Amino acid sequence: MLLVSKPNIYISRKLPDYLVEPFYDYFNIKMWPKDDEPVPRDVLLEEVKEADGLLSMLSDAINEELFKQAPNLKVVANLAVGYDNINLEDAAKYDVAVANTPDVLTETTADLTFGLLMATGRRLIEAMDYIREDRWTDWSPFLLAGKDIHHQTIGIVGMGRIGRAVARRAKGFNMPILYHNRSRNEEAEEELGARYVDFDELLERSDYVVSLVPFSEETKGIFNEVAFQKMKESAIFINAGRGQTMDEEALYNALVNKEIAAAGLDVFQQEPIRKDHPLMTLDNVVCLPHIGSASVKTREDMIKLCFNNFKSYFDGKGLITEVK
Ligand code: DGY
Repeated sequence: MLLVSKPNIYISRKLPDYLVEPFYDYFNIKMWPKDDEPVPRDVLLEEVKEADGLLSMLSDAINEELFKQAPNLKVVANLAVGYDNINLEDAAKYDVAVANTPDVLTETTADLTFGLLMATGRRLIEAMDYIREDRWTDWSPFLLAGKDIHHQTIGIVGMGRIGRAVARRAKGFNMPILYHNRSRNEEAEEELGARYVDFDELLERSDYVVSLVPFSEETKGIFNEVAFQKMKESAIFINAGRGQTMDEEALYNALVNKEIAAAGLDVFQQEPIRKDHPLMTLDNVVCLPHIGSASVKTREDMIKLCFNNFKSYFDGKGLITEVK
């Protein structure tokens, strides 16, 4: 797609100037200016009227309502590897190409996922709160005793790039690795000795059930009452994929009724959650505000990748990381 004048890019969230400035040579860039709040929907719908490209966040619903308002829009670059916020059928209907940010965030998201697993298993947040609340008056043998990580079986649901990077970390902890995925990942099997099992067997046999599945109609609510009942009573459930893959009420009940031991969650059905969310009231739950890929370096790389996608596209070379 060759344009004579500079393409107009709209950015739906304030990004650091030092990352945006290098691209002023190539684009007319307009950005939502406020640091502390997201662009209101009506402003976004107004701004896209002039945009050739949109740099969107995973919290922006990119759908027909938006495409209808954006006659010039040719490309959406989403600052995330997940793109369930974008209706791909609508994008195709309006002839809008879509890019995401795979690869650059794989290792960082795997770090967070494994960190969340460790924090939940070893009760790290509870332990910090214990001191903060000035409850540490003496030492006792089972004070805040948690669950081992080493040699425990990890079951990874969603063995894509991030799943495999989590499995690599698990291997370092001598954890037997089970996985379930739409298709076999033979490289992970060879590299890590990961064993493919069906969903039910994974639920029944894993000490840590780790979900990295993207959200789709197929994966909606797969972690439901029945799934939690199949898990061991000592199992810990970790979700760093998408919140809509779990039934939060069923998870809450499973935790309260001690059908499973604990949960570590970086994602929720409806984000953001507030501090009075039912899952926030339980000591055996660690909740994080969707920070899987949030290291400074990785967020910088994701932003650069979005811009490089625009550059490549408007130079007529196609998207670098196209979602198809
Ligand atoms: C993504 O990029 O989809 C992740 O959820 C971000 O943490």
